[in-house]
Amino acid sequence: MPISYFPLADPIPLPAPVWFFKLLHTVTLTLHFFAVHLLIAGLILGIAWALNARFRGRSVSMESAGLITNRLPMVMAFVINLAIPPLLFTQVLYGNALFSSSIMIGLFWISVIFLVIILYYFLYISQQRLNKGKSWWWLNLIALVLVFKVALIYVNNMTLMLRPEAWPEMYKNSPIGAQLASGDPTIIPRWLFMIFASLALGGTGILILSMKKSITDEVRKYLRLWGCAITAVFAMAIIPLGMLVINNQPDTVRQAIKEMDVYSQFLNIWKASAALLVMAAIMTAAQAYNARKIFPVLAFAAAFINILSWVVVRDGIRDITLYEKGLDVWNRTIATNWSVVIFFLVLFLVAIGALIWMTRLIFTMKEKKESYA
Ligand code: HEM
Repeated sequence: MPISYFPLADPIPLPAPVWFFKLLHTVTLTLHFFAVHLLIAGLILGIAWALNARFRGRSVSMESAGLITNRLPMVMAFVINLAIPPLLFTQVLYGNALFSSSIMIGLFWISVIFLVIILYYFLYISQQRLNKGKSWWWLNLIALVLVFKVALIYVNNMTLMLRPEAWPEMYKNSPIGAQLASGDPTIIPRWLFMIFASLALGGTGILILSMKKSITDEVRKYLRLWGCAITAVFAMAIIPLGMLVINNQPDTVRQAIKEMDVYSQFLNIWKASAALLVMAAIMTAAQAYNARKIFPVLAFAAAFINILSWVVVRDGIRDITLYEKGLDVWNRTIATNWSVVIFFLVLFLVAIGALIWMTRLIFTMKEKKESYA
């Protein structure tokens, strides 16, 4: 019998069925990814537009860059707050894999806390400087580098948790975890996928921002043309990149993803939503001067479905890989406490309502006039 490196699961039974945790995990991780995408796209476009304004003297670029940068601290609040629920669900379901891999890269893993605090601080300082009319783009550039680093550490851990066979060697190499995992062909494609997906899916946030009533037609057109261009181009790019992530998996995992009904269906939904995204972006561009909301909203909805379906496929990769290595996530002792579950669900729905309200606030900012040029 092969050695299992997974520590035993907590003997206390799960307080709700596995499917319940998985459902909540999928929804909350989709929201976390959406926020990460908006942050990365906002940083990249804000910097590009600010530099465009600086070197070409285009005031519409500066105006648009300011509109985004002013919202980034709030987007960051979403990134963090929407990250904690999926982290809890992941720990409940996969704790014995995730805790172990976190220890192998412990120093980097713990550094995420500090990187996130510094990055948040930079976003606030940048916003303050923007509102005082001072140069801020370089602060966003530092923040972007930190975001890339945090994303790399996350990808590293989420892939290392699937490779228990690498843990003993890594632990011998550095018991304090002063190392990141290497030698896994999926790390870089997964990281690149997140960055490219950010431009495609985060671009839809720019389209929503273009619906703001108090902006000029010139700014609206600028936001729409850029938002559409990056959404359409990068939505096409993520399909080969996503397939590279899948094709880089071991043969059995790749085969299972393509053959198991649930995952192959979600893979199809993922591709179809990327195509819908391209179409909605093109339609929005065709009406760049028009304040109509239908196509930007369609693009935003397609982006949500795209992320959700990717989260399901990604989850499939994890479950199949872990199952082959001796950890069956569905095989847990369960003692459901329905009154607690129902109470939790009510609170969850209230939180979702608050989230929708906050999202509206981000995009409309009560329609107050903003000026950054
Ligand atoms: C700027 C900050 C952050 C960035 C850029 C970021 C980025 C990422 C990326 C790229 C992944 C995907 C990894 C993969 O698919 O391999 C990920 C997953 C995840 N992140 Fe974040 N993240 C950030 C902050 C956080 C924070 C602060 C937390 C927790 C408090 C968190 C919780 C999670 C969880 C739980 C997952 C995956 C869970 C799972 O696979 O089940 N993230 N994040």
